[in-house]
Parts: sequence; C-alpha cells; structure tokens
Amino acid sequence: MNSVLDQLKQPKPVRTEAAPAPAPPPTTHEEKPVLAVEQANLGYGRTLILKDVSVQIRQGEFWCLLGPNGEGKSTFIKALLGAIRPLRGKIFLRPDFANRTRLGFVPQECELNPTVPTTVTEFISCGFVGLSLAAHVRASRLKQILEMLGLTRLRGQSFWTLSGGQRQRCLLARALVRDPLLLIVDEPTAGLDLAAAAGLLEIITDLSRTKGITVVFVTHDLNIAAQRASHVAMFKSGTVTVGPLEATFNNENLTRTFGVPVEVRLNRDGEHSVVARPPSLNA
Ligand SMILES: Nc1ncnc2c1ncn2[C@@H]1O[C@H](COP(=O)(O)OP(=O)(O)OP(=O)(O)O)[C@@H](O)[C@H]1O
Ligand SMILES: [Mg+2]
Repeated sequence: MNSVLDQLKQPKPVRTEAAPAPAPPPTTHEEKPVLAVEQANLGYGRTLILKDVSVQIRQGEFWCLLGPNGEGKSTFIKALLGAIRPLRGKIFLRPDFANRTRLGFVPQECELNPTVPTTVTEFISCGFVGLSLAAHVRASRLKQILEMLGLTRLRGQSFWTLSGGQRQRCLLARALVRDPLLLIVDEPTAGLDLAAAAGLLEIITDLSRTKGITVVFVTHDLNIAAQRASHVAMFKSGTVTVGPLEATFNNENLTRTFGVPVEVRLNRDGEHSVVARPPSLNA
C-alpha cells in the first residue's frame, strides 16, 4: 500500500541564479552501520524487557553494554544474534553480516553439556559450524588462534578439566575461528583473576584496534568501559541510553543506571576511572 507521502505531488523545480548545493557524497559500504536497531521492543512472549531501543553500531566501534543484573543486556544480545525476534521494530544487519557467518559470539557461560567428552580442539572447532572452508584453511586458522590465545599446549586436553580462565579463552577462540567482523562478548572476564581478565581484554582490544573488528562487550567493570569503549549503552528500567563515551558516560547517567552515586574521574594521563560510592549503611 502506498503511504500518504507517496501520494504527495512533487513541487515543480524553481530555477534560481544561485549555484545548486552540492549533493552529499554517497554513503560508502563501510560507512553504513554494521547493525541498526530501530525502535525495537524486546522480550519473551508477552513479557516486555526493553522498550523502544534504537542504536546504530558502525565498523570498528567498541561498544560496552552496562547496567545492573537483570536489566536486559543479554536479552539485547540475543536479539542481535537473531535468537529472539523483536516484539516490535526492526534489527538490520549490513548485507555482509546478514547470514551471520562473520559474527562471533562469546556467551556469558558455556552452554555445552559436561557429560559429552570434548577436547579443547573439538570444542573450538564448533566455531566452524555453518562455514564452508577447505580443510587446510580450518587447520591453519585453528593453529593460529590456539597460539594467539596460549592454548596450543592444551589442545588435546578435555575441555571439562580446564580452569575457568582457560575455558573463557576457549570460548573466545571458538568465536575467533569464524574470522568475525563483529564480535559479541557477554561478560567474558567475569570470575577471572586479574591477570587472566587483563589478558583476555587485551586480546579483544587489540583485535578491535588492529583489525577493525567491531566489538559489543557486556561488562560490570565500569573501568573497562571508561578505558576501552568508544560507545556505551546503559540498561535500566526497560530503557537503553546509548551514545559515544564522551557524551554518555557521565556521572548523571551512571548514577541513574546503577542507583548509587558514581563519579567519573580524569587522571593526569587523560585516562578515565570510575568510583562508585554505595549508600552509607548508617544513613
Ligand atoms: N528465556 C527467558 N524467558 C523469560 N524471561 C527471561 C528469559 N531470559 C531472561 N529473562 C528475563 O529477562 C530479564 C533480563 O534478563 P537478562 O539476562 O537480559 O539480564 P542481564 O542484564 O543480562 O543480567 P545479568 O547482568 O545478570 O547477566 C530478567 O528479568 C530475566 O529474568
Ligand atoms: Mg547477562
């Protein structure tokens, strides 16, 4: 059906002496958003979790998704992955992402059944599902990722005997063997010791900076967002506040999101850090 706009008559062009304004340059493929969410309502069945979410994610951006437990960060990710459909609105993927082959996902927790015997190599190779690659391409990609993540020595070991940090590296490796252009990670550093968390974070940041991989990263660590993110999305009470770090990651938005006074500080090196002050128990 035609919209009212289609039925409107175009006014006749008027000649003027002034030079016509130059046409804006056409949008290149790279400038188009990798992913665009338009006025989406997200939820499960009749339960609405997030209302009227709109966000555009462009190539090379590093997004941190922030917010208290249960506010819909993983739900948003499920929608990006196509695991749940928006109850209203739309999610657009750039054509080269449309079949989701160049999309890597590191889940919040391992979803495999521990009774199935699985070596590290077998586990990581699950990442190849749905890709048609020659055997030698698979083998060289696997070798390279195992080395990059320090897993070569563990490749024949049972996945279930690994430590939490080693398992997290396997989950990241499984996502990376897909050679992703978009990497979605849901709290990859939760439960890791300082060194393991820093190592994992360094690899992801490095991939984003050197290969231009777009990253969507859920974290409860506000300092990770302060120091790594180019953009943030803050989840609270069914709404999502989004924008570039400088414009959005401020005391007011953080305090509203987390319900405790939060202060963003700029240190002498120009780096941001965040201090949260829980309400006094005597208050
Ligand atoms: N499959 C489901 N069916 C119904 N409700 C669900 C389902 N999965 C999640 N929810 C509900 O959706 C809400 C948001 O959950 P979600 O997992 O998205 O939160 P989150 O922000 O990722 O939390 P956390 O920081 O604890 O990981 C919660 O109230 C949760 O109970
Ligand atoms: Mg979650």
